[in-house]
Amino acid sequence: MRAIVCLRYGPPNVLQLKEVDKPTPKDDQILVRVFATTVTSGDVRQRKADPFLVRLIFGLFRPRKGILGSDLAGEVVAVGKEVRRFKPGDQVFGLGVRTYAEYTCLREKGPRALKPANMTFEEAAAIPWGAACSLYFLRRGGIRAGQKVLVYGASGSLGTAAVQLAKSFGAEVTGVCSSANLELVKSLGADKVIDYTKEDFAVPATYDLIYHTVGKISFSRGLKSLKESGAYVSALLLTSRLRRPWAWVAGRKKVFGGIAKVKPEDMVFLKELVEAGKLKAVIDRRYPLEQIAEAHGYVEGGHKKGNVVITLA
Ligand SMILES: NC(=O)c1ccc[n+]([C@@H]2O[C@H](COP(=O)([O-])OP(=O)(O)OC[C@H]3O[C@@H](n4cnc5c(N)ncnc54)[C@H](OP(=O)(O)O)[C@@H]3O)[C@@H](O)[C@H]2O)c1
Repeated sequence: MRAIVCLRYGPPNVLQLKEVDKPTPKDDQILVRVFATTVTSGDVRQRKADPFLVRLIFGLFRPRKGILGSDLAGEVVAVGKEVRRFKPGDQVFGLGVRTYAEYTCLREKGPRALKPANMTFEEAAAIPWGAACSLYFLRRGGIRAGQKVLVYGASGSLGTAAVQLAKSFGAEVTGVCSSANLELVKSLGADKVIDYTKEDFAVPATYDLIYHTVGKISFSRGLKSLKESGAYVSALLLTSRLRRPWAWVAGRKKVFGGIAKVKPEDMVFLKELVEAGKLKAVIDRRYPLEQIAEAHGYVEGGHKKGNVVITLA
């Protein structure tokens, strides 16, 4: 099968298209033919081993898995003998491993679900990373209807999903982005948009929940903008490899960070949200598998809108 192999950390050209053996599913695994994946900011961090912590997780000297990629949409082509949730022919989407390849083997119990019926494979691949992670963080922050929610970094993968998710929970949403993305963020349902190049988001004691997706906000100013019992949630507060999210209370304000944990039922929740018309895919660019290095270069620039999709079919 064709796969993009990454045998060392480095610039985009470390990603090489190769013929590799097709994997065989274990008893508790499904074999998925991947029709679409994405290049996420996380894939770029992994490829560059930036920050150094990446090496402790993914391999000290080289990426242990050899094939990167986490988002996927595709079709189950074989299942191990213990698998009950899926059968060959099922169209699925979710988070996985080694998705920069025509086929990948995934545990049945991981964060996958049937693909939303009203989406193409490309659209479905653009949902898991941004929406599943943002769903986790918004829930950590205790999102509720009627709350004032600020999404800082509203135009990236996590941000575009967060705006839509927060609206679906019934929150009043303010999105912070640059001038070029104001219309996009409004079109996703934001009640208010703030252009970070012209206006300061920080207004004392305004928000019930601040969700921070890009590392450009001062923590203390963020805290000041929270109401007295508000929650500050950051996708960037990664203090250690601890899988458990950490939290502390600053006065009555709560702060959460950590690594998003995504369960199969979260993917089912997102599928239903998509089918109800409350969550749509935001796709900036599409590239074929063989141009993945170019896609990495673009994502590394840090200004993509939503998601960058890779097509394999
Ligand atoms: N903890 C976890 O479990 C977890 C999970 C997933 C992701 N993450 C992290 O979350 C971060 C965001 O991920 P992502 O995939 O959403 O990133 P992304 O899609 O690459 O984010 C790009 C977006 O960030 C915006 N941006 C850049 N500078 C900005 C600024 N100063 N103010 C507001 N927006 C700005 C850009 O808009 P402009 O072009 O307008 O600047 C662009 O639209 C990454 O660092 C990732 O590693 C953490």
